[in-house]
Amino acid sequence: MSNKVLVTGGTGYIGSHTVVELQNNGFEVVIIDNLSNSNKDVLERIQKITGKRPIFENFDLCDAKKTNDFFKKHADIKAVIHFAAYKAVGESVLKPLKYYHNNLVSLVNLLQAMQENNVSNFVFSSSCTVYGQPDELPVTEQSPIKEANSPYGDTKQISERIIRDTTRANKSFKAIALRYFNPIGAHESALIGELPLGVPNNLIPLITQTTIGVRKQLSVFGDDYNTPDGTCIRDYIHVVDLAKAHIIAIKRLLHNGKRNYEYFNIGTGRGNSVLEVINTFEKVSEQKLNYKIANRREGDVEQVFADTKYANSELGWKAEKTLDDALLSAWNWEKYYKKNLYNK
Ligand code: WQD
Repeated sequence: MSNKVLVTGGTGYIGSHTVVELQNNGFEVVIIDNLSNSNKDVLERIQKITGKRPIFENFDLCDAKKTNDFFKKHADIKAVIHFAAYKAVGESVLKPLKYYHNNLVSLVNLLQAMQENNVSNFVFSSSCTVYGQPDELPVTEQSPIKEANSPYGDTKQISERIIRDTTRANKSFKAIALRYFNPIGAHESALIGELPLGVPNNLIPLITQTTIGVRKQLSVFGDDYNTPDGTCIRDYIHVVDLAKAHIIAIKRLLHNGKRNYEYFNIGTGRGNSVLEVINTFEKVSEQKLNYKIANRREGDVEQVFADTKYANSELGWKAEKTLDDALLSAWNWEKYYKKNLYNK
């Protein structure tokens, strides 16, 4: 019997790590990606790690006909993991329509094509941004969904509603939304990792790029927050732990989960401040980071970290890697990647 899984956005950061875990678990993988924020080289790197090159189709899910034709061609797909989306919070504020159009049209097309072709298992890449700044910490799945801080966050909230309503209207359609906290780190092989185009937005690529000399100095955005050391607190989760949660979600769907729509927090349950991250990075990399304290960044929430009890007990999943592991893997990836660039 087929165990073919479609991974949209499978050449991207979280997607590529999930493809590795899927293949290591015996799943056959087909990737759809339009390469808008990733590179085809990733396929060879996945092959180096797993011994297998995933099937790859390059097109945009905003094209409804191509999406539908794809399912006709791959009639044996059993489940879909949907990563493909824009994810830059700041850009989404400047270009909201770009975000609403891409993230929502692609989702609707995908769900329609799945229903038309009787594919009924769906895992969605959601985000802790759906919670905004929570009133109580840690955040549980029951915490209220507050107004999103950006159009990007809004697309995640709306996407979850679209998926929920689809499962309500079609009882045989099953979906799991995974609400990620802050994914960081890279595969231990250092063959795949986060590859931001241009100036990164996220803390860890900024730290590794500054340390390796691509950037001069890191700015710590604010040290006057109401936290023990005054800097913001996040729940940083190793991308490989995160990828593994998708394998469990897929297996749960294929073996009939409890309800036809479920959502889970995927974090470590630990909060770390920006300064803690910097200190840990300096320790594991044995490097000195050039940083200064700067003004707060607009739109940042003060602190957010996950209550993971529900994911732990229901999915039997738990983050296993430490912050040290994650930061060292991010550093190894930066070194390996730069080395390869110079060799070209
Ligand atoms: C982390 C911390 C910054 C850069 C975003 C999205 C979220 C998610 C992950 C996405 C914050 C501080 C950062 C810098 C700093 N999903 N920082 N100096 O904002 O928590 O979450 O990315 O796809 O949805 O909102 O992540 O890595 O940008 O910031 O001090 O140069 O690092 O203030 O406290 P964030 P981040």
